[in-house]
Amino acid sequence: MPRLLPAFAAALTLAATAHAQPVPATASAASPDGNIVLTVSTDNDQRAKWSLTNKGKLLVAPSGLGFILTDGVNMTRGWTITGSEIRDQDDTWEQPWGERRFVRDHYRELIVHFKQDKDHHERLMNVRFRLFDNGIGLRYEIPEQAAFKTMHIADELTEFSIAPRGTAWWITGGEWNRYEQVYQKTPIDGVATAHTPITMRLDDGTHLAIHEAALVDYSAMWLKREDGQTFRSTLSPSSHEARVTRDLPFNTPWRTMRIAPDAAGLVENDLELNLNEPSKVPDIKAWFKPQKYIGIWWGMIRGDWTWATGPRHGATTARTKQYIDFAAKNGFSGVLVEGWDKGWDGNWFGTGWDFSYTQSTPDFDLKAITAYAAQKHVQLIGHHETGGNIANYEAQLDDAMKLYSGLGVHMVKTGYVADAGGVQAPGDGPNLGPDNVRMEYHDGQRQVEHHLKVVETAAKYHIAIDAHEPVKDTGLRRTWPNWVAREGARGMEYNAWGPFANGPSHEPTLVYTRMLSGPMDFTPGILSLEGHDHAPLASTLAKQLGLYLALYSPIQMAADFIENLEAHPKELAFIRQVPADWSESHLIAGEVGDYAIFARKDRNSSDWYVGGVNDATARTLDLSFDFLDAGKSYTATIYKDGEGATYLTDARHKIAYETRVVKKGDKLSLWLAPGGGAAIRLAPAGGK
Ligand code: NOJ
Ligand code: CA
Repeated sequence: MPRLLPAFAAALTLAATAHAQPVPATASAASPDGNIVLTVSTDNDQRAKWSLTNKGKLLVAPSGLGFILTDGVNMTRGWTITGSEIRDQDDTWEQPWGERRFVRDHYRELIVHFKQDKDHHERLMNVRFRLFDNGIGLRYEIPEQAAFKTMHIADELTEFSIAPRGTAWWITGGEWNRYEQVYQKTPIDGVATAHTPITMRLDDGTHLAIHEAALVDYSAMWLKREDGQTFRSTLSPSSHEARVTRDLPFNTPWRTMRIAPDAAGLVENDLELNLNEPSKVPDIKAWFKPQKYIGIWWGMIRGDWTWATGPRHGATTARTKQYIDFAAKNGFSGVLVEGWDKGWDGNWFGTGWDFSYTQSTPDFDLKAITAYAAQKHVQLIGHHETGGNIANYEAQLDDAMKLYSGLGVHMVKTGYVADAGGVQAPGDGPNLGPDNVRMEYHDGQRQVEHHLKVVETAAKYHIAIDAHEPVKDTGLRRTWPNWVAREGARGMEYNAWGPFANGPSHEPTLVYTRMLSGPMDFTPGILSLEGHDHAPLASTLAKQLGLYLALYSPIQMAADFIENLEAHPKELAFIRQVPADWSESHLIAGEVGDYAIFARKDRNSSDWYVGGVNDATARTLDLSFDFLDAGKSYTATIYKDGEGATYLTDARHKIAYETRVVKKGDKLSLWLAPGGGAAIRLAPAGGK
């Protein structure tokens, strides 16, 4: 078979249809603005390939498509393109809550039909590509066919061969601590096996993030570097021989690549949301409101209180009432209380057999507490720590959600504390117990199924879910807007466990990596700037406020002890005011891993907020207020690093306050301390 030059091939029309001999064919399409051009072809070995150019430059060199199976001829060679279709779409849809209200979904779609030859059992596979101006998505669609009814996937072989050189920010896939790692920054050819999103900045300034969308009934994709800058998918393992088992027909999740000229284009990008299905919870706004909350939490994380019953038990009726009083007085909608469920005693990490999700410990009067909260117009936020034991949790799931909904609880934080590969799922035998389990990964097909089961059950009871130790977010909040937040990275908790535990670059890295996947329950607001045994945070006081603008979530905690919040009345006033729901969000200054300053417009008023976080390097930014409405004056209330502030010493507590009137076109010179940050509220002057 003669090999076709790519340029020649792109011009060729499709020729392979009913021929017995495979005929080389190429299908091609461009993004709406014409910048990103996709070519799909087969090579000399009849392997399926895709490649991309961006503004005329090779971005993704020919990269493979296909699968290896556990039970049959692999779907790797012998492919012929038998046809293709193109379709255009330009739509705008509204988010019930989020970083922006309206999302434009504008793409050109190319679906390519592949067929394997007789030696490969004439299997069929369609690949649907969507080309946006700021990225692409591709997914496999396996139609009903004679050759097989069920697909047992040993691994997926989607390749991403990045042509230009560059730098990558990433965490390791498959390691014991799931996603809770400090990000690594290496040349692209220094990556090992990475979770997604993985972020890359090419030497010409192009920003990329490879990830996935709509991870449903499938295992999460990790990216394994083959050689040079070529990666291929490898799926999270399963206790079964096949990593994914699916009956035909089915579609895989979308494999996505954000493509942007700069950091702002990477962040202000709704690619994965657009590749998810519309909402299945149409009444969400009636029972979930973006909100801020406090909790009986930091005390356990620091080790002052315990989850288990005993003299230092955190979740007592008296303390919960005190927290409810504080919430009511300071405008917090919810109080999270952990450690009230019976059985959370002793060795729970990775175990979870003793947990009851319906019975409370004797010192926690669930009914009295929820009644007290209702009187004060505050809600208890529920908690289901599973210790990674989904067998025990699923058996109680419906009863647990029913109990909460009857008590007026509309949000539940879940938790899966177990090492990677340590999720205990129900086994195949009839009994429920430790001798009948299947061990699974936090991001394998079984756990992906589990999370959706929890979210669907919760939706039935009008409950929102905030999952810790979750599977990564892939934009499913569009379909399930009651899946409001997740952890899925090193959160604030690590700062309780050692000095500078997360490091000053952590949050300015999260903005461009973890946060691309969706909202994070990071739990900012440690105003004392101290963890266990006075361990200092790698943060100034102003950075704690900047976190509310840098790391988006529709639920934002003020995570410190209420005494520490109260001791900082000015900062508490900012936390009370800052919204958790926006009509617009823009990254107005920032570079990956260095700093990030956002301008966000409140969804429910004309106020704007500006702020964010810095790494260890002090810098002065010239911010411009171009985003403000023309002809209006705004009172800017500024919280910024005080002179000489640095995360390295007690000067981390230095903060400066300033008020001034600004309008569109004005500039602000803003100094950010090492480990610093800033937060500004802009309210129309005169209250308009
Ligand atoms: C780890 C979670 O990240 C944390 O927020 C929670 O308090 C503990 N697990 C206990 O569930
Ligand atoms: Ca955690």
